[in-house]
Amino acid sequence: MTQPTPAKVDMEKIISLCRRRGFIFPSSEIYGGLASFWDYGPLGVELKRNIKQAWWQNMVQEHDDMFGIDSSILMHPRVWDASGHLQEFSDPLAECKSCHKRWRVDDLEGNRCPECGGELTKPQMFNLMFKTFVGPVEDAASTVYLRPETAQGMFVNFHNVLNTTRKKLPFGIAQIGKAFRNEITTGNFIFRCREFEQMEIEYFIKPGTDEEWFDYWLKESHHWYLKWGIKPENLRLRQHTKGELAHYAINCYDIDYRFPMGWAELEGVANRGNFDLSQHARYSGKSLAYFDEDTKESITPCVIEPSAGVDRAFLAFLCDAYSEEPDKEAIRVVLHLHPRLAPIKVAILPLSKRESLISIAREIYTELRHSWMVSYDDAQSIGRRYRRQDEIGTPYCVTVDFESLKDKQATIRDRDTMEQIRVPIKELKTILTDRLS
Ligand code: GLY
Repeated sequence: MTQPTPAKVDMEKIISLCRRRGFIFPSSEIYGGLASFWDYGPLGVELKRNIKQAWWQNMVQEHDDMFGIDSSILMHPRVWDASGHLQEFSDPLAECKSCHKRWRVDDLEGNRCPECGGELTKPQMFNLMFKTFVGPVEDAASTVYLRPETAQGMFVNFHNVLNTTRKKLPFGIAQIGKAFRNEITTGNFIFRCREFEQMEIEYFIKPGTDEEWFDYWLKESHHWYLKWGIKPENLRLRQHTKGELAHYAINCYDIDYRFPMGWAELEGVANRGNFDLSQHARYSGKSLAYFDEDTKESITPCVIEPSAGVDRAFLAFLCDAYSEEPDKEAIRVVLHLHPRLAPIKVAILPLSKRESLISIAREIYTELRHSWMVSYDDAQSIGRRYRRQDEIGTPYCVTVDFESLKDKQATIRDRDTMEQIRVPIKELKTILTDRLS
């Protein structure tokens, strides 16, 4: 097996691979793009779907006390009053009096505009929620907000889920969905975008059990990245300082990843206490209490919230998997993605374009694509085709050659070891199923 030489992954290489191979494109590219908005292409959409599926399987399907929902992006505007986002979800900004560019105060060194050196105004609070209007009239009464977190959809549905599942505490609600923040400082590719996707859990618990459940979810969340292939040395846990805590949080740890630009947050695990349920009960006038059969008391549950970014996980999995390895005289670029995350599981490659080989290869392709995303490629040399598949992380290539016509066997080539084994074509599906699970 070729020993991978650790490549210094720089963001430019990841961006270039994503663009070249159809993982990610700039949004509205033919119009010059829209800053900090991105489109996932044919391979990107598969990787993203696989990440979300892996999370849902581990966090919802494999927990008997977890339930999924999919709440609407636009919610009643009072939700954001109650949640504190209208008052608190703001960054202090200073505006340049010459070029009128706005800057986050915590990004500034000194009191001059970093672009033109102009004088800056006093900082003013700027709310990060995007506003829009419901219906034809654009006034205060019809103003709504694109949700800045999926969490609130779970808080406002607490009683709906409790009553329909008949579950006792502790139990959790999970949701994967888009969220929007009008960030001032964006960048680092898909790390900080204005439109992004979250995978969030609100885990409702009895007051007084929060430390135990906080530890549980911090471990569970950390373990999830390791399970799906992130190297332990590229992950760290970091507790928020008092000054960093969000307005609703009593305690919070970030799970950070060592991105090309440095350590940065992949996921936050927060103890939100009973802030959100109490606030929604107060603002809506509806009780969100829970009757504890054991103590015969009504209580307001507390909440532990693991909140992960899909796009950040996507970037971390790509960076962690990226490798440049010597291969004969050249360098091969390989994505050592976990097979379950890989966008394409198997590539079928006939050795030549001769009709007899193509027809066997297409038969295999037609059968296997019922089980996985499979690709068929008969263009260019076999070496170049292997390279193309390595670069997008395809775990297995199946080659059909002239021997296959006689012995009804095909070759499976492993992406990581480049080892090849010859197997009967009729056993391909069973062997690949075993290797891909
Ligand atoms: N729900 C936590 C966050 O969006 O940061």
